[in-house]
Amino acid sequence: MKKVIFLLLVVLQLDKTFEWGFKNGVLHNSIWLEQAAGVYHRESRNGKYKLTYREAKAVCEYEGGKLATYEQLEEARKIGFHVCAAGWLHKGRVGYPIVKPTFNCGFGKKGIVDYGYRLNKSERWDAYCYNPNVKECGGVLTEQERIIKSPGYPNEYENDQICYWHIRINYGQRIYIQFLEMDIEEDTDCLSDYFEIYDSYDDVHGLVGRYCGDELPDDIISTGNVMTLKFLTDGSITGGGFQIKYTAVDPPSKMEDEGSKTSNVETAYSLY
Ligand SMILES: *[C@@H]1O[C@H](CO)[C@@H](O)[C@H](O)[C@H]1NC(C)=O
Repeated sequence: MKKVIFLLLVVLQLDKTFEWGFKNGVLHNSIWLEQAAGVYHRESRNGKYKLTYREAKAVCEYEGGKLATYEQLEEARKIGFHVCAAGWLHKGRVGYPIVKPTFNCGFGKKGIVDYGYRLNKSERWDAYCYNPNVKECGGVLTEQERIIKSPGYPNEYENDQICYWHIRINYGQRIYIQFLEMDIEEDTDCLSDYFEIYDSYDDVHGLVGRYCGDELPDDIISTGNVMTLKFLTDGSITGGGFQIKYTAVDPPSKMEDEGSKTSNVETAYSLY
């Protein structure tokens, strides 16, 4: 039986989920819905607000899509697509979709925050792509149990990818993560290709670990009911990919009522 890592992190984060955060001085979005109605958000591999119009177009085209139109972004927004980061749209317009305005984002109203058609196409923003046939890479997962695979698995994953999976289960439940398969290009600090797990709504707070290589990491249990998984690959050398399983775990009190203490998860809880 493998050891289980506990995230004795900030108790604060249990109830108060941080949706926004600054990273390199730029407000980073929470990832509510990675993709809707064929529209998705992309940032440069070097971080937020690093793409010129031409580069943004190239990012979408590289993946077989196009920059989204304002109308496509609005359609996606209507079904819940919300990102707090301005990105290039079709014909050099810039904006971002707000479903739930907050103090930091959206100027207090729902809708597309529209920066208009930019005269200066060398400005640097993120990108909103439209591609109804986009390959499976990330998403919002709300099932009680699910296997997450690297894109294309069991084939090798591709270069230059960023995928986010946002796991969100019932309030009060926790997320139990097991690594089933692991083959990611290995280097000392996992700088080239890596898989990251965050014990929070976004990829700013609560980094649990960064993984590469082919050793199976220990199991993980979240502190709350949300986690963010990120997979990033660079421009060279790929690997076999990964398979990870998550399972929703009910709070310990309920499990004690049910009596048995046989599984790893329950044992883990009794230690906690
Ligand atoms: C256009 O934007 C870039 C990046 O912000 C800036 O460096 C450049 O000076 C701008 N050009 C003009 C003509 O304003």
